[in-house]
Amino acid sequence: MLNWEDLESACMRCTACPLCQTRTNVVFGVGPKDAEVLFIGEGPGEQEDLKGEPFVGPAGRLLDDMLSIIDLSRNNCYIANIVKCRPPQNRDPLQTEQDACIPFLRAQTKLIRPKIIVCLGRIAAMKLIREDFKITRDHGQWTEKGGIWFTAIYHPSALLRDESKRPETFRDLKSIQAKVLDLCTHTV
Ligand code: URA
Repeated sequence: MLNWEDLESACMRCTACPLCQTRTNVVFGVGPKDAEVLFIGEGPGEQEDLKGEPFVGPAGRLLDDMLSIIDLSRNNCYIANIVKCRPPQNRDPLQTEQDACIPFLRAQTKLIRPKIIVCLGRIAAMKLIREDFKITRDHGQWTEKGGIWFTAIYHPSALLRDESKRPETFRDLKSIQAKVLDLCTHTV
């Protein structure tokens, strides 16, 4: 297994898919390397590509608010994406791009050993929970795989577009908070 340094430097140099040709920065991920909770988005947007950090644009500000509602923050969660380079015009990452990039996220997960993984939106949920995951139907459900508890909530960008989804998301966040209280030791 790669150590953090080797993993990060391999990721920074990656040319495994065409997204490397249009990126400004690789967005590797941020947070404590022993985080108990891992949040996974789909891929960097414009601000993230410019800064090299996940969730720093408008969706990121909402994510910060969502974390604070349940007493979490960037200080105690790790935040990453399914793909580490920005898809042009923020389109959904292609399956081939996701497949090229996912070994980095799997290696990060092995090193972090989180207790809980929260998928932000449908792309992450379909990749990490189930191929036929339907975010409108299945958000807030819990699945255990390999000793890690997985759930998915609406992507913050979806909540910016459609405020009517916020009450359900509030309930899902409270369920995440309960799981954290149940399973985590240094997050609470
Ligand atoms: N949307 C994502 O899915 N990830 C980011 O890092 C930013 C916006």
